Amino acid sequence: MRFRTEDIMPPPIVKLAEAAKRFISSPDFLNLGQGLPGHIPPEDAIAALRERLSHPSTHLYTSDQGLLELREELSLYLRQNNGIDVNPQNELVITAGANNAFAGTIMTLLEQNENIIVPTPYYFNSVMAIKLAGGNVVEVPTGPGFQPIPADIEKAIDEKTRGVFLVSPNNPTGAVYDKDTVDQIVDICIQHDIVLISDESYSRMVFDGASHYSPRLRRDAVEHIITLGSFSKEFGMSGWRVGFVVGPKKFTDEFLKVQDTVSICAPTAGQLLALDILKNGLDSIEQEIERLNLLRDLAYLRIREIDQLEVPRTSGTFYIFPKVKGCKDSRALVMDILQSTGTLVLPGVIFGAAGEGHIRISIGPLTPEAVDEAFDRLGKYFDSN
Ligand SMILES: Cc1ncc(COP(=O)(O)O)c(C=O)c1O
Repeated sequence: MRFRTEDIMPPPIVKLAEAAKRFISSPDFLNLGQGLPGHIPPEDAIAALRERLSHPSTHLYTSDQGLLELREELSLYLRQNNGIDVNPQNELVITAGANNAFAGTIMTLLEQNENIIVPTPYYFNSVMAIKLAGGNVVEVPTGPGFQPIPADIEKAIDEKTRGVFLVSPNNPTGAVYDKDTVDQIVDICIQHDIVLISDESYSRMVFDGASHYSPRLRRDAVEHIITLGSFSKEFGMSGWRVGFVVGPKKFTDEFLKVQDTVSICAPTAGQLLALDILKNGLDSIEQEIERLNLLRDLAYLRIREIDQLEVPRTSGTFYIFPKVKGCKDSRALVMDILQSTGTLVLPGVIFGAAGEGHIRISIGPLTPEAVDEAFDRLGKYFDSN
């Protein structure tokens, strides 16, 4: 039997986790591969959800768009946090995570053989989704500080281009895209009548005085902009599968056809948990983000001690994406680091060819002691190699 997915790369993290299996059970194993922060939702929100479990409606579908109360509360949050105006009635759909939102967006937009321009290094699930839909990815390497280069993006546009995909704050680089850069890309999308898909899954995780700029703030461009968000990272609820997509009514009406076909609605209990956190849990989310801020300071201090690792300090997320001097095969390097030190980091090449020679270090789930231990190990490893 032949499957149409055979040419799509298998999920790279699953393969690595298999390779790391025999180390994972060791008490010394340090996981700097996982793309999650360490926290789970606030206790009060979990307690409120426990109560809701005895209500029959918690166990049933919601509308395809998601609970209206959640959409209303989320619109207020997006106004306060990102400054954007979203009509909860017809410009917002709750999805089973941002991945579901992206895949649904691509299925809604893309015809066979059309392409999406993706600055690299990229978030690999987006590339998988574009290929699954029969589309093509046009990779455009980022420049200094991992910022996208608008002129290069414009040059890459051809008659098959449907859109540009930006992730800011970025996975895997942590880059927070400059307002000017984003504005130039918005202008290009308007001029060429293509769509800007903006993944803002880490919009709250911005540090060092930087600020997140959502392209939807450009009121002249709302017809061209689709915004994706997630409750997985900042709200610590990745297992509940809740995210969202924002776009003009014309788009959300079409998107709902995909939503109804693929998942009907996001998990109801997860939607209720997100609602409780939005209403009463934001202070505790902020504390977790402050914890990440301190971890980042420590990690950037320690990484400077390792001569072989070169990295600009980026202002977002809990990822660090250093270039390893002299490294030509990041997969082999990562396996060697794992075998020699019991520490898992991710090979840069899984984030596209532009990531080769880099590793991705995620400090999200670590304690400060574990960050110190990890950099002690990496320091020793690179001293002796
Ligand atoms: C940029 C980006 N978008 C989306 C996701 C997936 O989010 P969700 O769990 O909401 O599907 C991730 C997870 O790593 C991510 O890094």
